[in-house]
Amino acid sequence: MISAQQKIADRPWLDPDAKPQIVIESVNKSFGAFTAVDAVSLKIYKGEMFALVGASGCGKTTLLRMLAGFANPSSGRILIDDVDMTHVPPHERPVNMMFQSYALFPHMSVEKNVGYGLRRMDLPADVKTKRIQEALEMVQLGAMAKRKPHQLSGGQRQRVALARALIRRPKVLLLDEPLSALDKKLREATQFELMSIQYQVGITFVFVTHDQDEAMALSTRIAVMNRGQVMQVGMPSEIYEFPQSRFVADFVGTTNLFEGTVYDSRPGHLTVRSAEAGCDLQVDDIGRVGPGQRVWVALRPEKIRLSKQPVTDGGVNQLKGTVWELGYLGNRSTYRIKTETGKVITVFAQNDRRTSEWSIDWSDDVYLSWNANCAVLLQQ
Ligand SMILES: Nc1ncnc2c1ncn2[C@@H]1O[C@H](COP(=O)(O)OP(=O)(O)OP(=O)(O)O)[C@@H](O)[C@H]1O
Ligand SMILES: [Mg+2]
Repeated sequence: MISAQQKIADRPWLDPDAKPQIVIESVNKSFGAFTAVDAVSLKIYKGEMFALVGASGCGKTTLLRMLAGFANPSSGRILIDDVDMTHVPPHERPVNMMFQSYALFPHMSVEKNVGYGLRRMDLPADVKTKRIQEALEMVQLGAMAKRKPHQLSGGQRQRVALARALIRRPKVLLLDEPLSALDKKLREATQFELMSIQYQVGITFVFVTHDQDEAMALSTRIAVMNRGQVMQVGMPSEIYEFPQSRFVADFVGTTNLFEGTVYDSRPGHLTVRSAEAGCDLQVDDIGRVGPGQRVWVALRPEKIRLSKQPVTDGGVNQLKGTVWELGYLGNRSTYRIKTETGKVITVFAQNDRRTSEWSIDWSDDVYLSWNANCAVLLQQ
């Protein structure tokens, strides 16, 4: 059993008295008339694995560069451990950055590449050698110290870059798409390595990724960005289960959205009338919105049941449709169901048996149903 105190220790952002390690205060960055980072405020705590996600061009790298000191905010402040970093040059910050393309020097051996991170540090040669060895052990490349980058796999090269970034022992490591060069299998394996290395060294990681699964699997919290702004910050499960906007619901994972109007609101649940859905949508909610309000109901594909027979008498949280597309993905199938209103709805079904006598196939007529506590009400 995890005690409430333990929970708070693991999740300092829940504790109003906890001190953040990094404070980003209303930071803006403009390039001419264009605003790349727009009024971003974030608090990041020591030991976090904090992910920045968002579409290409939304300002992720620009934000990391400002944390590292390679770019200055147009306005706002950045503090690390209570020290205002806004005008401190990069090499004087307790921060290191691993770039989007982690260029290793091709003519240098692995150990020379890693040692390069220490070039500005005034340390005796034997201390440097020892540090290099330690860093290589940490990423399990001790045996490959003498190799050149072209004699390594993609994953090993990525680990050299990580060792090079860690060797200065920064308090905060910024990683811009650290795993994007790796294929899916290797990426998954490296994700776990990254997590265990981060756990060992105990430093804060702020990383950018395009890959939502990676953000979900690795991070303590995720910030979802759109056009320079932070749309939502939360633990992976919060972002996934309780998105606060259509943008976040749609960006993270797959979601079905229904537009409608609140028809009935009572403590516990709301009813939304939706022409798009073709049935009333009941949503468990604390009653945030009154009748007449325009809202959206978000429903994840894995929360929907498919059946050949109706589950309820109909009218609420149940739709009828036809299998339009069907993708078999091994462990699960993706159904695209066209409903009577013409809307296409995505449903994920686990393939938990090899063959199934009730299996649902192309062109079958089916019923879609779900529980009111599976739907999320969105006001924007
Ligand atoms: N030096 C610059 N001058 C002008 N515009 C810039 C400059 N650097 C970045 N931008 C613009 O700022 C926006 C944000 O860029 P940024 O590199 O932060 O995006 P990103 O979220 O990292 O994207 P990606 O996922 O493609 O790496 C982009 O529209 C980009 O064109
Ligand atoms: Mg980028």
